[in-house]
Amino acid sequence: MWPNERLINLFDIELPIIQAPMAGSAFSDMVVAVSEAGGLGSLACALLSVEQARRELETIRRKTSRPINVNFFCHQQPRSDPTRETDWKRRLEAYYVQMGLDHNAAVPSANRAPFDEEMCDLVLEFQPEVVSFHFGLPDRNLLARVRRTGAKIISSATSVDEARWLEDQGCDAIVAQGYEAGGHRGMFLTQDVSTQVGTMALVPQVVDAVKVPVIAAGGIADARGIVAAFALGAAAVQIGTAYLHCPEAQISPIYRQALKDVKDNETAITNVFTGRPARGIVNRLMREVGPMTDVAPEFPLAAAALAPLRSKSEMAGSADFTPLWSGQAPRLNRELPAAELTRQLAEETLEKLRFIETMASPDVLAQAAALATAGRPLSGWPPVASTGRVGRA
Ligand SMILES: Cc1cc2nc3c(=O)[nH]c(=O)nc-3n(C[C@H](O)[C@H](O)[C@H](O)COP(=O)(O)O)c2cc1C
Repeated sequence: MWPNERLINLFDIELPIIQAPMAGSAFSDMVVAVSEAGGLGSLACALLSVEQARRELETIRRKTSRPINVNFFCHQQPRSDPTRETDWKRRLEAYYVQMGLDHNAAVPSANRAPFDEEMCDLVLEFQPEVVSFHFGLPDRNLLARVRRTGAKIISSATSVDEARWLEDQGCDAIVAQGYEAGGHRGMFLTQDVSTQVGTMALVPQVVDAVKVPVIAAGGIADARGIVAAFALGAAAVQIGTAYLHCPEAQISPIYRQALKDVKDNETAITNVFTGRPARGIVNRLMREVGPMTDVAPEFPLAAAALAPLRSKSEMAGSADFTPLWSGQAPRLNRELPAAELTRQLAEETLEKLRFIETMASPDVLAQAAALATAGRPLSGWPPVASTGRVGRA
């Protein structure tokens, strides 16, 4: 039914559509909806405490017995660098003054924690079918513990080198994350954003370089993108931004509105919010301080000094200091419940694939040649049968 069923078989899912893990934006409701529809729902844990993650996983396991993905960041926690942190606060000082905030007050600590023993215990307890990582992989002992649960392990690569490295460490599949992708870049062998590769170029080169199945991510939001991903050799797609429009996405009204209004050329890669490059909708902080700056402390420390600015401006209805993560294809989005979006994407993709298959059959090509020779119009021809419903009702 699908041109490449390696991922469907590996993860035991019906549709090769993975709802991207989205820290802070997608929780149990979204995961359950997508997994129940036949795709793979993903719970991102980077912004959750162990207790919060446990509650989400309890809800998910109560509501669905379908496979799920649980996702973690696995960066190295940076050492505190007081000079850099002071420079960063100085860079933001004018905004503090403008917003009537105390520039000398202690700032809340940044809360993006890497995968650790406690989160690993949670994986052992809930046994998710897939565990995914961003920014490389955790240390060997933790990874071995995850592997012993039987979970399939995947991680993001933004280059062929990263994909090969992940395969060498035993990853079961690789997410090829193109430059178009919303949110943090999974890059871990380089810090050079200027050489990051687009999805169209990255996916086939990764497919050629590794033996494990490849998942295409970045700027994919409709059936045309999914068909293209399969044509490039991917075995599934991971879609983020398109799911942010679903009612299940837990995002603020300002973020939802910004996603509705944003144009294709209004996102950029920035490190001002966390210290690591991530793609988001251009806003005041990105325009005036970034989009990239050497002053921002290392990930995730940059977020701490911004927190007071962000909460004060959000209270006033402004997104000036809020990260508005978005990929480069925001105009393709549609507002649908996550299950319906998953099924529609699958149905439309299968319809397009069937059309292509019909067009490429020798009989049809011969008929087309005959019509063209006779000077007859080809529009609306050949008729293509509908594929019917897919996934779970
Ligand atoms: C709001 C948002 C949050 C994200 N958070 C995570 C995360 O926690 N973990 C992760 O592996 N990827 C995260 N990503 C990146 C996605 O996994 C994926 O690479 C990206 O969404 C694909 O591009 P698209 O948004 O154009 O579909 C995030 C993306 C977005 C838009």
